[in-house]
Amino acid sequence: TREGVAVMRQILPVDMVERGRCPFDSPPGLQQRRGKGPVQPLPLLNGAQAWLVTGFDEARTVLADARFSADKVRHRDATSLQPHEVAASPEPDTAPNVESRDDGMFVFMDPPEHTRLRRLLTGQFTVRRMRALEARVTEIAVEHIEAMAAAGTEADLVPAFALPLPSLVICELLGVDYADRAEFQERTSTGLNAKASDEERAKARFELHAFMQRLVTGKRAKPADDLLSGLIHDADPPLTDAQLTDVALILLAAGHETTANMLGLGTYALLEHPEQLAALRADPTLIDNTVEELLRYLTIIQLGVTRVTTQPVTLAGVDIPAGATVVIATPEANRDPQHWPEPDRLDLHRPRTPHLAFGHGVHQCLGQQLARIEMRIGLGELFTRLPALRLAVPADEVPLRNEMLIFGVHSLPVTWA
Ligand code: HEM
Repeated sequence: TREGVAVMRQILPVDMVERGRCPFDSPPGLQQRRGKGPVQPLPLLNGAQAWLVTGFDEARTVLADARFSADKVRHRDATSLQPHEVAASPEPDTAPNVESRDDGMFVFMDPPEHTRLRRLLTGQFTVRRMRALEARVTEIAVEHIEAMAAAGTEADLVPAFALPLPSLVICELLGVDYADRAEFQERTSTGLNAKASDEERAKARFELHAFMQRLVTGKRAKPADDLLSGLIHDADPPLTDAQLTDVALILLAAGHETTANMLGLGTYALLEHPEQLAALRADPTLIDNTVEELLRYLTIIQLGVTRVTTQPVTLAGVDIPAGATVVIATPEANRDPQHWPEPDRLDLHRPRTPHLAFGHGVHQCLGQQLARIEMRIGLGELFTRLPALRLAVPADEVPLRNEMLIFGVHSLPVTWA
């Protein structure tokens, strides 16, 4: 993700990265491109040619079609190339350069390699485990809100609430011992801190990897009722320690920063739409709708869902060659006016229809039930327990994560006095 951030700044036109007046609307350059049709060529600043998909139906087609590969290990993705690499290899590299995969990075695998790991993991996200987690999510949310309230009348919601909640939930899921949780949180928050230096982040990443390796070894020696122990028990043939470590790191990477930003940015969006927040306060049963509408309206994975064509494809009348990088603009697809009337409006009463905030197809978010639980309980408890919650700074001073693959706020100063 880190490398992705640096590269994104270098390869995308600045009007596709910097937000305009409304922090919740896409950058103006992206909105403009949405107006130019559902599929279009996207010249990158590194000299490579990519394709941009902004239409909802076209985005769904790409995500459900095996000719669009998620395997960035085999296919070199133009968004990950540095300018000198594009110059050196003008022809896209479509030839598989890896014969067999033995890692656990299933996010970047296609079926059938993807299928085995995905099935094993789906088997761990059981109704029983999610129900048990729900009770813990409530405890963690309430503890953090009470700690904020006990410490004063103002806080930065990101470190005080939005980051620790999903981090502790992943501890629960993976079965991290209570004694090790401070270390785990310290490492994960340094890894995500935009102000940390590259060295600090690299060190945190390295230590987190070592932490996960130790966790896997520990679970082999002493299994418990958690996801990693379940994977060790259920996988036949067994997964290697390296695969289990990869899986643990993927769950952290996929489930922490995403949910944290939905909590932070979701709170900011509700505070900036007082009439909508009032409707939720008046009718708490609106919370499930609120979660879905925030997911659609904010679609925080900005341009991070990409695929590579394995053969020439014609999509919405546009010819895309083999080996091309396709950037799926899920935030635009989720505001496709053919699917949502007045798509740029946050409307908690909107009828619920499928959206792409969790992706679609074989890679559709594995943790979406858990993410919904965390948002429903996190936002619900926050607005119930702190009824006077409001911004502690002018709205335009909230620092935005423009440059990050996952959009959100770097900090959210709030008060409840
Ligand atoms: C995949 C979004 C929370 C685990 C995805 C994808 C999206 C997404 C868009 C598809 C990526 C693609 O197709 O390339 C989100 C959002 C979240 C969230 C917006 C929070 C609101 C979580 C949580 C977990 C999780 C809490 C687990 C603890 C995963 C995993 C994948 C994934 C493992 C990869 C699945 C695969 O490749 O088969 N997520 N996610 N996510 N998500 Fe989430």
